[in-house]
Amino acid sequence: MKKLYGIIGDPVSQSLSPQMHNQEFEKLGIAAYYHPFRIAKKDLPSGIEGMKVIGVQGFNVTVPHKVAVIPLLDEIDPLAQKIGAVNTVVRQDDKFVGHNTDGLGFVRALQMDWKEDLADEPALIIGAGGAAQAIYFSLLSAGVKHIDICNRTIEKAKKIIKSSPYEASSRALTLEAAEKEMGNYSLVIQTTSIGMASTEGKSPVSLDKLTAGAFVSDIIYNPGRTAFLKQAARKGAKTQNGVGMLVHQGVLAFEKWTGITPDAGRMAEVVKAHMGG
Ligand code: ATR
Repeated sequence: MKKLYGIIGDPVSQSLSPQMHNQEFEKLGIAAYYHPFRIAKKDLPSGIEGMKVIGVQGFNVTVPHKVAVIPLLDEIDPLAQKIGAVNTVVRQDDKFVGHNTDGLGFVRALQMDWKEDLADEPALIIGAGGAAQAIYFSLLSAGVKHIDICNRTIEKAKKIIKSSPYEASSRALTLEAAEKEMGNYSLVIQTTSIGMASTEGKSPVSLDKLTAGAFVSDIIYNPGRTAFLKQAARKGAKTQNGVGMLVHQGVLAFEKWTGITPDAGRMAEVVKAHMGG
């Protein structure tokens, strides 16, 4: 009998994780199947109970359950605890253990597309939501020493920095201040929703002062090239969209479930194919 994996969220039909994981199960000859489960907010406790009873071996968690799922699990790994959100659950014996592979997925994609040793790169994160926090903590845990956070609501950037369990030299900046200081960063990461569907063509900040050799990442993957990334490319920066983060959070989850490293390149191809190239 095939082992059962999946993703819970609401909505969940837009997720490309079933395609990524089912392709790898098939190519690697693993007898398993990954199914999207739409679970409404109010049904989350019984939904998790149901996953356990029917023998689900592991699952991803997406919007709106990443925080609410925590008290419903048996154990939470330390990084997920620090981030305060879970995107991957692993069944260990009869326990559901929560992890967070979003931030480390971002870091891994960055290391593959740019460079392995990130420690001395001065970085700027734009935005201070859940994704920004996961990326901030994961970059710090990967040894990056200097990371500033800028946000429309500066208090939220301050809160993330204050709650960090890692040693760091970090400042909270307004968007205007970050624009002026843009030339000081070799790594710039865009984590806000600006540039997606309803705000397509818009950017949260101007990159006028960006240095030509900088590396600029936008975690949005649809559209594949946001106005922000286009401006970065015009300034001579190397750029990366959110496909890598999406793929590598999936790679890390797959490894936790099966102990096998899937083919990240093949997973990226599936994602791109479903995005229309
Ligand atoms: P996620 O958990 O996916 O990161 P989120 O918690 O809703 O999403 O965070 C969204 C981010 O986009 C925040 O940094 C938000 O800024 P505020 O904290 O000031 O709300 C940012 N954002 C959304 N719309 C924006 C806008 N029109 N201009 C600037 N920043 C915006």
